[in-house]
Amino acid sequence: MNIIRYKRVTSTNDKAKVLGEKGANEWTIVVAEVQTRGRGRAGKRWESREGGLWFSIILRPKISADKVSILQFLASNGLRRAVKVKTGVHALTKWPNDLVFKTGKLAGILVESKIVNEIVSFVIVGIGLNVNQDQRELPSRATSLCKITGRNYELNELMEVVIEEMKLDYDGAELAKITDEWWTNCVHNYEQVVTHTPSGYVKGLCVGMNTDGSILIKSKHRMVRVSEGSLKLVK
Ligand code: BTN
Repeated sequence: MNIIRYKRVTSTNDKAKVLGEKGANEWTIVVAEVQTRGRGRAGKRWESREGGLWFSIILRPKISADKVSILQFLASNGLRRAVKVKTGVHALTKWPNDLVFKTGKLAGILVESKIVNEIVSFVIVGIGLNVNQDQRELPSRATSLCKITGRNYELNELMEVVIEEMKLDYDGAELAKITDEWWTNCVHNYEQVVTHTPSGYVKGLCVGMNTDGSILIKSKHRMVRVSEGSLKLVK
């Protein structure tokens, strides 16, 4: 495993992409203390000041292009287990790519890939985990491990455990096992939700997850499969 460390970058995903293009090996990791242009899903900004764990992993999975999204669930599972092992915090997954503790967002995952003629060339799994930031240093709906436990954590140790946990599932990854574990530890498992999808809002009971990573919402009159968008719990 090759870990490349920076004090300050625009985004570790950007650095990892350049390395991916140059042929870097699988499990090359780019980690930075600060990101000046950290990115989240849907073009959102990801607040990445000092104290958080910001890193990206280059993978070259031998899977078909339509299965790439499974890597975000594999990463969420590994991240959730690593957080539990290292800190005792029992965080939960939230569709599509978050780790939450109670109502606060603890981590986010951004998966980006290069696919040429339907063949996966490489995938970048970018992970942002709020660790040692205090409330003033966090966006309003976010939380951190320090805020939850009152303790500070060594970022490198945490990162190593996340990688170890991800590796456990990576070789011979079984889609059903990954999505089952994700769903079992999901904050909206049989909860009322509203999802914002490209074709509008869907409101209802979240009753399951498919092996392609889409979720099932039982709305008033029908069952809807949602594969893209964002989700909120209805209180
Ligand atoms: C999200 O919740 O929308 C995903 C956030 C992903 C943030 C991480 S931090 C490391 C990597 N570099 C980035 O610019 N983004 C990801």
